[in-house]
Amino acid sequence: MAFRCVTLPDGAEAPQPLTAASKSGMQSKSLFDPYSLGPVQLRNRIVMAPLTRSRAGKGDVPGEINAEYYEQRACAGLIISEATQVSKQGQGYLWTPGIYTGEQVQGWKNVVKAVHDRQGKIFLQMWHVGRISHTSLQPNGAAPISSTDRAAANTFSFALDENGKPGNVPASKPTLATIAQLRQVVCDYGQSARNAKEAGFDGAEVHGANGYLFDQYLNSVVNERTDEYGNQTKESRTRLLLEAFDAVAAVLGPDRVGVRIAPFGNFGDMKPDPKVEETFLYLAEELTRRSAVYMHVVRGSQFDVEPVVPLGFLEKLRKAFGASIIITGGLDQKKAKDLLAQGVADLVGFGMLFISNPDLPERFRNGWPLAPADHSTLYGGGAKGYTDYPTYQESQMTREVREPLDIR
Ligand SMILES: Cc1cc2nc3c(=O)[nH]c(=O)nc-3n(C[C@H](O)[C@H](O)[C@H](O)COP(=O)(O)O)c2cc1C
Repeated sequence: MAFRCVTLPDGAEAPQPLTAASKSGMQSKSLFDPYSLGPVQLRNRIVMAPLTRSRAGKGDVPGEINAEYYEQRACAGLIISEATQVSKQGQGYLWTPGIYTGEQVQGWKNVVKAVHDRQGKIFLQMWHVGRISHTSLQPNGAAPISSTDRAAANTFSFALDENGKPGNVPASKPTLATIAQLRQVVCDYGQSARNAKEAGFDGAEVHGANGYLFDQYLNSVVNERTDEYGNQTKESRTRLLLEAFDAVAAVLGPDRVGVRIAPFGNFGDMKPDPKVEETFLYLAEELTRRSAVYMHVVRGSQFDVEPVVPLGFLEKLRKAFGASIIITGGLDQKKAKDLLAQGVADLVGFGMLFISNPDLPERFRNGWPLAPADHSTLYGGGAKGYTDYPTYQESQMTREVREPLDIR
């Protein structure tokens, strides 16, 4: 396995002891400074955002190729794994990994070891898709569960079509989850946390973003329940996510558990929500009370012209939440630095850029050019467009060998 982060001449990417300033929270604002995320020491403030790549093996088990991919990117301060279903019911796409069988746990152990062997840090992103699924993926072909019985419009699951062939299929019509089903979801998060601990993860991120199960409860328009998990109050909208957080935190400790959110996001047919600030600022206060280690905000993406989350909201979130904030979405090095300087983020995440630049922190540090990602190989397939992106230095070595041969 080739490791993609070459040691820098000045050794600055190596983990360093914490300074008094960083221990007290008055940390330097450089992307390259070490950072203490609860008990986990990060070598820099650059986060590899969770990225579904749909390359798990049989039984949704992470394999060697997945370990190689994450190992190549271990130079990130923190890797957040691709979204990983906590149960069969939590799955919305074929070939995404799970963390609910013994084989899956073993597969993740190998991934975590590969990252740790390179002094990297990795959190598991824990996922339940709710209504963004298809009956062909659900246990016994059942309807997916949600906070509504309306299907997500113009939204696709990657599942088996009517001929049993893998493909994009419209997300199925869900059912309103019963209370017993919601209790089972919370249990599944607790069990998955035990599995994550066994696999050796440094921590976990509860996926509350991008229109999946918890977002379906947080959004007061999408959520059509009228009970204690319903849309009427901030307490009822946040209840399910906070119960899942508590179940995970009981196993890993709250200082190893973060939550990802996408306020103002519209992925997965999320609707504009007049209660968005009320909900998410209350969630921030509750997560502070529970000593969650971070909140991770999806700010937008490389495809958005404007950030989806306004700066004003990020400032309010900073006041409402007492621990670390990660911001991801549509960032380049300059925008990331600005967010640190504005004081709204402690850590900054990159998605697409990490796909095609396994050595992203070194490219930033040295001002090396960034490689573009091949969009046709984002999901599914093998090494092509996955583990075959070279580091900048590798790409230069290839060129040096090639150029002398180019004799005219
Ligand atoms: C191929 C791909 C897969 C993604 N998978 C996930 C995922 O598993 N979990 C998640 O929370 N977000 C996922 N995202 C969103 C990214 O984490 C990130 O928020 C988004 O790409 C915006 O950041 P960027 O502009 O730096 O790419 C995915 C995005 C892409 C492009």
